[in-house]
Amino acid sequence: MKENSEASRRGFIKKLATTAAAVTAGSGLLAADKHSFHYLKQKYNQYGPNNQVNIALIGAGGMGTQDAIVALQVPGVKLVAVCDLYDGRLKEAKTRWGADIYTTKIYKEILNRKDIDAVIIATPDHWHQQISVDAMHAGKHVYCEKPMVHSVAEGPAVIKAQKETGKIFQVGSQGVSSLGNEKAHELLKSGAIGELNYAEGFWARRAPVEVWQYPIPDDASAQTVDWETYVSNTQKRPYDSKRFFRWRNYTDYGTGMAGDLFVHLFSSLHFITGSMGPNKIYASGGLRYWNDGREVPDVLLGTFDYGKTVSHPAFNLSLRCNFVDGTSGTTYLKLVGSEGSMDITWDSVTLKRNKVIASDDPFYLEKMRKAGQTDSGRKHILPPEEITFNAEKGYLGGPYDHMNNWITAIRTNGKVTEDAVFGYRAAAPALLCNDSYYKNTPMFWDPEKMKVAK
Ligand SMILES: NC(=O)c1ccc[n+]([C@@H]2O[C@H](COP(=O)([O-])OP(=O)(O)OC[C@H]3O[C@@H](n4cnc5c(N)ncnc54)[C@H](O)[C@@H]3O)[C@@H](O)[C@H]2O)c1
Repeated sequence: MKENSEASRRGFIKKLATTAAAVTAGSGLLAADKHSFHYLKQKYNQYGPNNQVNIALIGAGGMGTQDAIVALQVPGVKLVAVCDLYDGRLKEAKTRWGADIYTTKIYKEILNRKDIDAVIIATPDHWHQQISVDAMHAGKHVYCEKPMVHSVAEGPAVIKAQKETGKIFQVGSQGVSSLGNEKAHELLKSGAIGELNYAEGFWARRAPVEVWQYPIPDDASAQTVDWETYVSNTQKRPYDSKRFFRWRNYTDYGTGMAGDLFVHLFSSLHFITGSMGPNKIYASGGLRYWNDGREVPDVLLGTFDYGKTVSHPAFNLSLRCNFVDGTSGTTYLKLVGSEGSMDITWDSVTLKRNKVIASDDPFYLEKMRKAGQTDSGRKHILPPEEITFNAEKGYLGGPYDHMNNWITAIRTNGKVTEDAVFGYRAAAPALLCNDSYYKNTPMFWDPEKMKVAK
């Protein structure tokens, strides 16, 4: 493995050196690599009269609505029905998509319909597992929002249902299908940052609506919300609008910062590195500011140890999330290696290479002299220290690519980027990060066997 990555690193450096003159103009390397971009190879829009895909949306809130809008951009997709537990969302669905959209509060009615091929599940996290399993057993393909499950114990049932039914199951961490993630994967493989040894991710948020204090509709009540169903698979409680509309703040329904945000970075990191996940997880943090009844911390730090595997060397990951951060809006994923680093977004990668020591640095020259090496004084041609790869203008984005990846797999009985095994391996370290925080102890995980370890 080491030799392979050494060889690929040398290959990358050679390529970089030979194209250096062109790259100084900013585009040489990019132009050479552009045609390997997956999206150019992807069979976009494979649509004929006989392969219309009829979908339904279960959970028509913020993300479900976005997912359905994106799905409808893929040619040959028709939205037939919408399920939600709040009247207001069902009304909105009819206003947005037409009066003939079938609406219901009972997801099993959706699953019983013969005219529906596939469902998007965008409910709060505590319903993902049950609806996914029921949907696949009812013969539906599934796009399930992240995190795939609400607790580590729930994962195996989803994997089993996918295997047993053979249905196409995609988890919704859309970044993994993006050009940015794909380019980062290519660059890492080609040795662009040398040997990976560290990765980090960060979110900073501050505004109430960003930190889950969502507005509650004026007409919210036990009459307009099917509360009984909402809590039917968790602890029974009297109707509470906050627990319904601001569900992320409560552990019965949400998965905190780690399940909501870290999971995206695990998905991208695992896609880019080919990793199955970390084996040690340790969290710390606290509730510093948002004393609004939330049960989850508003500052969370997680550290994760990744062991050496055939896909990557051993490395460490540090993830942070701060909901009281005045720099609100900052978010990043960075991979660091022995030769440089990459800052990765869904539509760009900035590659930074080690700085070359300047030949006129007196300290360096003295060291060289003492070692018996003299510099001729002639300046060198230098490779670029920083290159940014940007997606082409008009790129439809990770969300479209991810949805298109699912619809294409349905049409061709093909593979998706983020199946149940991948989705579980991304969700588990995030969920174990919460367990570590609440239990105040490190958690151990066997990412290959997908089991909590001692
Ligand atoms: N991939 C992403 O970038 C991304 C972004 C935001 C949210 N999400 C995920 O999407 C999911 C939904 O998040 P959101 O922000 O849209 O929340 P939301 O509160 O806006 O929407 C959830 C909807 O689900 C409905 N619902 C609750 N229980 C239901 C049930 N049993 N059956 C049918 N409908 C039910 C609610 O009435 C609500 O309309 C979460 O799992 C979240 O993690 C993903």
